[in-house]
Amino acid sequence: MNAKMFPPGRVSPVGQPLDRVDGLLKVTGQARYAGEYPEKGLLHGSVVSSTIARGRIIRIDTSQALQVPGVVAVIDHLNRPHIASYDKDYQDADSAEGSPFRPLYNDRVLYSGQPLALVVADSLEVARHAGSLIRIDYESEAHETSLLAAQNTAHTAPAQTPEPRGDFESGFAGAAFTVDAHYSTPNEHHNPMEPHASTVLYQDDGSLHIHDKTQGPQNCQDYLHKVFGLDKSKIRIFAAFVGGAFGSGLRPQYQLPLAVMAALQLKRSVRVTLTRQQMFTFGYRPNTLQHLRLGATKEGRLVAVGHDVIGQTSRFEDFTEHVVEWSGMLYQCDNVQLTYKLAPLDVYTPLDMRAPGATSGMVGLECAMDELACAAGIDPVQLRVLNFAERNGNEDKPYSSKELIACYQQGAERFGWNRRNPEPRSMRNGRQLVGWGMAGGVWEAMQMKASAKASIDASGKLTVSSATTDIGTGTYTVMVQIAAEAVGVKHDDVTFVLGDSSLPTAPLQGGSFTVSSVGTAVQQACQALRAKLLDAVRMAHPQFAVVDMEDIAFGDGYLIIQDQRFAYGDIVRESSHDVLEVQIDAEPDEKRNAYATATHSAVFVEVFVDEDLGSIRVNRVVSAVAAGRVVNPKTAGSQILGGVVWGISQAMQEETQTDHNLGRFMNHSLAEYHIPVNADIGDIDVLFVEENDEIVNELGSKGVGEIGIVGVASAIANAIYHATGKRVREFPITLDKVL
Ligand code: MOS
Repeated sequence: MNAKMFPPGRVSPVGQPLDRVDGLLKVTGQARYAGEYPEKGLLHGSVVSSTIARGRIIRIDTSQALQVPGVVAVIDHLNRPHIASYDKDYQDADSAEGSPFRPLYNDRVLYSGQPLALVVADSLEVARHAGSLIRIDYESEAHETSLLAAQNTAHTAPAQTPEPRGDFESGFAGAAFTVDAHYSTPNEHHNPMEPHASTVLYQDDGSLHIHDKTQGPQNCQDYLHKVFGLDKSKIRIFAAFVGGAFGSGLRPQYQLPLAVMAALQLKRSVRVTLTRQQMFTFGYRPNTLQHLRLGATKEGRLVAVGHDVIGQTSRFEDFTEHVVEWSGMLYQCDNVQLTYKLAPLDVYTPLDMRAPGATSGMVGLECAMDELACAAGIDPVQLRVLNFAERNGNEDKPYSSKELIACYQQGAERFGWNRRNPEPRSMRNGRQLVGWGMAGGVWEAMQMKASAKASIDASGKLTVSSATTDIGTGTYTVMVQIAAEAVGVKHDDVTFVLGDSSLPTAPLQGGSFTVSSVGTAVQQACQALRAKLLDAVRMAHPQFAVVDMEDIAFGDGYLIIQDQRFAYGDIVRESSHDVLEVQIDAEPDEKRNAYATATHSAVFVEVFVDEDLGSIRVNRVVSAVAAGRVVNPKTAGSQILGGVVWGISQAMQEETQTDHNLGRFMNHSLAEYHIPVNADIGDIDVLFVEENDEIVNELGSKGVGEIGIVGVASAIANAIYHATGKRVREFPITLDKVL
């Protein structure tokens, strides 16, 4: 439909820095999160966790706990309701290969922190106190939780890595300059502000209304349907607001089935919330051991790229992520060899965490590229420009768009890179050594199937819905903008509804694919609604049955045909329906298939390193991002800011440390699991380079949830080397390693 938008010169709502439409609800405390729904007679569950890493439960003594006034029940593996076995092949939408964990399934202890019992009481305080009175006898078995110790037990990951191409060995052997280096990254936990919680509201007819902390309400509905054998019509999952997730809510986490068990058994409403310490008892970003080998000609052209990674997984699932793929696609090279192995340990299965795989794998690649630049005496930006890849070598496909060179150039210019003295330890600010480093970033630009419904009423108000979530990314806001543009209304006449499993089908919010997937569905539903409004006018006014599209214009709540104006609300009223509505299913366009699609970035960093103390401050970051059309520069910019802050955290602070003797995470609190505070963060400058992409989707938008973190830690490591002359290859880079 090629009609004009009206009035002439109308500024499209897409591309505007609109404030969050849910901002007021959030800052005034009106937005309710999963653990905040009040309910009369609500019971509270508290989880009792295992203290050993591997073995068997001999006995759970609940007698003392059950005597505490207010305790209603203790549920364990002996008295729980029926659930599917963990060998039964139920796959949630983000599951790893293997047998998914089932809480309270049997007497096996698979990891330290495993939930072994749920105490249900009138209040959370009573439930927690009673939980402390439960005695568990174990039969312990020897455990292994160290990836370093178990690396030789690693097997090839089930996810396929790209086939080797060319001849890596001879390319490497014949190279003028080579880098051969080992890097490691630690385990990290998501730690969103909102801990996981499920409030199960038991309905009179036995159905369950559940407020859950999740990135995918329909994934949770499907999970409960399959694991408990409940009819889908008996389960409705809500997730109106999510206080951060970063991947931790992609899979249904164990508080959900525990709360459902209690509700089914007691036929009461039950809430289970996890403590901050228990936020360390499920998925996490797995540590990696990386071996990088790069070879280049004397001009700096890559003739060999080798990236071998060992990651950790649990004994019951093979968690795989794309760690090494990036090394086969970011640069032009004919001789590439990538391997990825997993070592099973007595731990819980790792889980996707913001830019899973890229965040760790790009540490190896982009630090090694810096080492290569030093070896070859070439500027690190120049080295990357020289090796720019027009095609994705893994898939042998051209990119739908790739404005990475513009990222290098505009980022370097904004940063002032040309004033850099390449010599390590050559730049100073008093007692501080100054280091300037950079790195590139890359992430996939995926699109999934999604559905949306658009409906307009007699007051001209538009309501659009889809069963996605907004995990803090700005989905509520950008969907309003996309809808307002596509129907031709003002943004404040649009309401977007999400976070309810009964809405039109949507994928998990994750992978940075929500704008391209749900946004496309919203756009198409709204375009179809606009056509329906036009049809309604033509039906009611036969003189307009045949008119040129040229003579029709839409915008700001009305359409115009040959100078006659029809307000959308009036059209609905005239149609004798309460609303006009359209629901559509959107799929990725087939024209994507011939292309590789990805977002890119270039990150420039200035660090100050205290020469005597080794303390490091990231003073300045410039992140230049190419992600297609940016729907909302404010919310998109915030995603990148958050990613940069997390990259600083990854580079210098974050690490979940394990006591391998106990097989247990030690620093499981926000006091000891270090993340940056405001005072740790200097200037962060985000810029989006112009990137036109007519292939990815009609919006031309790729999604920015994840690209912001990728490459940041490497840029910092490279800056620290430039400041100090010391390469630290074991992350995080703490001051003891720098001194
Ligand atoms: Mo993300 S790891 O897809 O929330």
